[in-house]
Amino acid sequence: MRAVQVSEYVKGPLDLQVTTVPTPTPSPDKYLIEIHSAGTNFFDILQIQGKYQHQPPLPWVGGAEFAGTVAAVPTAGGSSRFKVGDRVFGATQGAYATHVLAPEQALLSVPTGWSFEDAAGLFVTAPTSYGGLVHRAGVQAGDWVLVHAAAGGVGLAAVQVAKARGATVIATAGTPRKREIARQFGADYVIDYRGRAWPDQVKKLCAAHRSGNGAAGVDIVYDPVGMIDASLKCVAWNARLLVIGFAAGQIEKVALNRVLLKNVSIVGLHWGQYARFETETVAAVWQGIFDLVAQGKFKGTAFKDESFVGLESVPRALQALGGRETWGKVVVNVVGNEKAKSRL
Ligand SMILES: NC(=O)c1ccc[n+]([C@@H]2O[C@H](COP(=O)([O-])OP(=O)(O)OC[C@H]3O[C@@H](n4cnc5c(N)ncnc54)[C@H](OP(=O)(O)O)[C@@H]3O)[C@@H](O)[C@H]2O)c1
Repeated sequence: MRAVQVSEYVKGPLDLQVTTVPTPTPSPDKYLIEIHSAGTNFFDILQIQGKYQHQPPLPWVGGAEFAGTVAAVPTAGGSSRFKVGDRVFGATQGAYATHVLAPEQALLSVPTGWSFEDAAGLFVTAPTSYGGLVHRAGVQAGDWVLVHAAAGGVGLAAVQVAKARGATVIATAGTPRKREIARQFGADYVIDYRGRAWPDQVKKLCAAHRSGNGAAGVDIVYDPVGMIDASLKCVAWNARLLVIGFAAGQIEKVALNRVLLKNVSIVGLHWGQYARFETETVAAVWQGIFDLVAQGKFKGTAFKDESFVGLESVPRALQALGGRETWGKVVVNVVGNEKAKSRL
């Protein structure tokens, strides 16, 4: 098979190369998947540089998220949830390749009517945002939700989940194009958060459109960037602030007196660990997401301003992602655009 194999750590994505390596043989306990599309993640960039928390022994194939078809079921027999030809998406080490072996718990069925391109970006972002907003912050109809980096991968998922639950969304993003995208995915208000004035803008919106407790600020903050401290300036009594990530690169420190004074909760979410500590919630979260998909309230967020076709485009895709140039999920269509975008 062809794959972006890492034999030694590289300085950056543009040093990656596509090579030919043996196609994995069907395994006793894993499915062999023919990959159609691969989703990119910032941690892929860290991993190829040797800077990620999970570094398999060299050599290994880069990438984690994928969508494709089942080429072979586990050879040990027993009951298999998927059969040859099924359209699946999931995540495991080695998605920047034409084939990968994946265990059953790392696979889900591509929703009806979804392309491989859209499904390849679903496995990480959708449950992070749904789990955070619904299970951790208890979002309800009538809530106001502030979504930071709203045009990013988890951000666009959060905008859609919050809207689907009947909330009003204030979205922040760093460029006009990203704010336009956040609006297209349902945000009610958009704000440029690159300056210092944005908490005042949030407060003004709440004062103008909300009454009672809500006039002081938002009920929920969804933060994948590291902006909890500044966000505490524009939250209502009893607000919940979700710590999702630190895209800005700093693990921030928060003045805890504000947490007390505003009677708020700061809530973390580590989606990857739910499979270990809380498997029943994993099933509930995915059911919730698939319900929203079936109701037409959650759609794919594949970045469309540039096309990444074939494994040779993985370096450029990762460079664009790392350069903060993109929105939504940056997806590489491994088998070519036509097949990857097919919704059959
Ligand atoms: N807690 C969990 O379980 C979980 C799960 C998935 C992801 N995450 C984390 O969530 C964060 C976002 O993930 P994602 O997939 O949405 O990433 P992404 O698609 O790359 O989006 C990140 C966004 O952060 C904003 N940003 C602000 N400062 C930045 C900086 N210095 N460099 C780059 N981007 C910056 C950018 O938006 P603007 O240009 O508009 O500012 C960018 O669109 C990451 O830290 C990731 O590790 C956590």
